[in-house]
Amino acid sequence: MKKQSIYLLMLTAILLTACNQDAPKYIIGVSQCSVDIWRNWQNAEMKTEANFHEGIELRFADANSDSEVQSKQIDSLVASGIDLLIVTPNQLSTSSPAIDRAYDKGIPVIVFGRKTESRKYTAFVSANNYEMGHTMGEYIALRLGGKGSIIEIQGPKGSKPSEERYNGFHVAIASYPDIKVAAEIQGDWTEQVAYEGVKNWEGDLNSIDAVFGYNDRSALGARKAYKERGARMPLLCGIDALPGPDGGIHKVRDGMLDASYIYPTHGDQLIRLAVAILDGEHFPKETMLTSALVTHDNALALQLGSDEVVRLTHNLNDLQALANGYTKQIATQHTVWVLSGICAALLLLSIVLAVLYFRRAR
Ligand code: FRU
Repeated sequence: MKKQSIYLLMLTAILLTACNQDAPKYIIGVSQCSVDIWRNWQNAEMKTEANFHEGIELRFADANSDSEVQSKQIDSLVASGIDLLIVTPNQLSTSSPAIDRAYDKGIPVIVFGRKTESRKYTAFVSANNYEMGHTMGEYIALRLGGKGSIIEIQGPKGSKPSEERYNGFHVAIASYPDIKVAAEIQGDWTEQVAYEGVKNWEGDLNSIDAVFGYNDRSALGARKAYKERGARMPLLCGIDALPGPDGGIHKVRDGMLDASYIYPTHGDQLIRLAVAILDGEHFPKETMLTSALVTHDNALALQLGSDEVVRLTHNLNDLQALANGYTKQIATQHTVWVLSGICAALLLLSIVLAVLYFRRAR
């Protein structure tokens, strides 16, 4: 009986050691409104940053621009036991109730980019979308010498960044009476929908002096349609200016876009904020990220800087993979040591019991 209890205790010890190694300290749920190059970039930054904090598990969900899907994904992230939610709401009215439900359950919520309709969030992080639209309006008006026709390709209906970019842009061009908006095309942030919108537009593309896509993918979709219709290329402006070879900074440098505006991803900052909230440290309730206009004049300098960031990030990821390999090795060694210790103890115990048994038997 005694012997059995000892074995049981040892088995429990082994299991506990094994379990402890895997239990995350914090589980952070990330609900993204869509899957695209911009979101992938932000997710990658979050993963890299999470590796610097011990015991962080990230759970991602992409709603594919569907607010109903996003609500369900938020509910299941909450049900799966997350400690904090980072969310970029797709459409405010539809996504807000699920975010409120998470918040009401006591889960801290960081809202990124688009404010929910209620005040139920722990922290809000965004760039100034109004400012982006306004700056683009000023830039286009100046480039056109205060006179010309523009096509706008907006974001989807109900999207807050799109609304704010619209407001900023229209306030800016209102000061230029000879600047006219020839068409407001309804986009959905994708290149394909922008391309179709411009391709099927019934007006004369040659009469257009500038296209303002509310993101770079929309501006690039317009470019494709212009080429296909064989029309004179207008001034092409977008927003996002991502780093990397497929990002907007490269496109401006290569002359495929005339201008873009950095819409910062800052996934690393979001994770640091999440950890500060979970650790009970002081944190800012509202964070406005700074960004800047990218034109042909500064694109090369920005590209060199952002290429360097991409290179360093790759190196960092390689280093982290190496470190993870070592950590796993150490963990395995640790388990081997524990098991060897237990075997030695069992051996010793058996010898002692055998000696006692033979002494009694004599
Ligand atoms: C990425 C994205 C960007 C756009 C932003 C608007 O998902 O579509 O291209 O600038 O979201 O929130």
